[in-house]
Amino acid sequence: MPNQWSPSSWRAHPIKQQPTWPDEGEYDAALKQIASMPPLVFAGEARSLQSALARVAAGNAFLLQAGDCAESFDDFSADNIREKLRVILQMAIVLTYSMGVPVVKVGRMAGQFAKPRSADTERVGDLDIASFRGHIVNDAAPTEAARIPDPERLVRAYHQSSSTLNLVRAFTKGGFAALDRVHAWNQEFVATSPQGQRYDRLGVEIDRALRFMAAIGMDTESNSSLREVDVWTSHEALLLGYEEALTRRDSTTGNWYDCSAHMLWIGERTRDLDSAHVEFLSGVGNPIGCKVGPSMTGEELIALCERLNPAMIPGRLTLISRMGADQVEDRLRPLLRAVRESGHPVVWACDPMHGNTYTAENGRKTRHFESVVNEIEGFVRAHRAEGTWPGGIHVELTGEDVTECLGGGDDVSDLDHRYETVCDPRLNGRQGLELAFRTAELVRGDATND
Ligand code: PEP
Ligand code: CO
Repeated sequence: MPNQWSPSSWRAHPIKQQPTWPDEGEYDAALKQIASMPPLVFAGEARSLQSALARVAAGNAFLLQAGDCAESFDDFSADNIREKLRVILQMAIVLTYSMGVPVVKVGRMAGQFAKPRSADTERVGDLDIASFRGHIVNDAAPTEAARIPDPERLVRAYHQSSSTLNLVRAFTKGGFAALDRVHAWNQEFVATSPQGQRYDRLGVEIDRALRFMAAIGMDTESNSSLREVDVWTSHEALLLGYEEALTRRDSTTGNWYDCSAHMLWIGERTRDLDSAHVEFLSGVGNPIGCKVGPSMTGEELIALCERLNPAMIPGRLTLISRMGADQVEDRLRPLLRAVRESGHPVVWACDPMHGNTYTAENGRKTRHFESVVNEIEGFVRAHRAEGTWPGGIHVELTGEDVTECLGGGDDVSDLDHRYETVCDPRLNGRQGLELAFRTAELVRGDATND
């Protein structure tokens, strides 16, 4: 029988994807410092997010989880945070209006630093140097020195998360998110997109609805729900020492919460049933996610659901499928069926990014916009066939005008022009918004498939 859960019980389980810290003493001191810092989020907030996700699980809301593959220490500014948030808000309006359900907005933000890697080392010239594991661990520069894990980075990641979260809270409650403003940005996009006509109809409908509401006195001045939104934070709970240091007992319920973010997820590479990562997240009260890749079997998935959500609490567990556009329909259908038959009340979200990455001729890692759309299309089709709810999307994007993913309405083709990600290729702001329009068409069932 497993021992009782505690914030440190993961230490007795096999663990993958952890850096080798060169100086254990410095590492322990950094964790001790973080453990003494205030929590970044409050348990009550995590419970509110869980209630919102319960509505998604029941088919009455939609999850939009989006942000960087890896946040960067270098590319950290108010502009950057504001632009990312702006795209998320713009996407949310399109999705809300066209689906007629609330959109639960969760950023891959304010803590999304640590990266799992497919290999421990990378070949640079004739040297094998340690892989880059995210700015919370080491630096991306291709030198031996840059790749040495530095525990001071854990503390810096905490502080950067804290100021990012502060700005997110300020923007979302301070007027930046007002519905008419966000809609005006969307109209600007529709007017300037080569694919604009395709999205115009929805834009016009939203415009009419807003004018109707204003006419009957429901405007952003008089109604705070038109001016304020909730944007929650999330990241992959990869570095368990860091997560443990921010795990606190909630004084209201007596339960443990990982207060580094509202929602945490387990990556595709660390989701073994007996792993340290599954053990750790099984015991925190936050809503949690787990990536589900093409090798997952129905039996294994049900065992994971039982381990991560034995009480079958709706909204507690989000399964994030990342199959690849070619396989999503075939791979997902038996899993949807197995989970449905088990009675587990999960949220199903589609990560259309990680199964569609490839290396272009110039050596850049990229994804094609159409493969991303195709994976969402297959995801929706699988859900339609199984009678389940395609509950959300989980995407990597930035508000900046980068050229990291190919295609889209502006037909990005020159990856070198502005390739800035520290890890995986992200949709740029316009591609992100376009994806929301395309997703809305797919979920509404009026996609024209051209
Ligand atoms: C990620 O979400 O950035 C990631 C590494 O995904 P996955 O765990 O699906 O590989
Ligand atoms: Co990624």
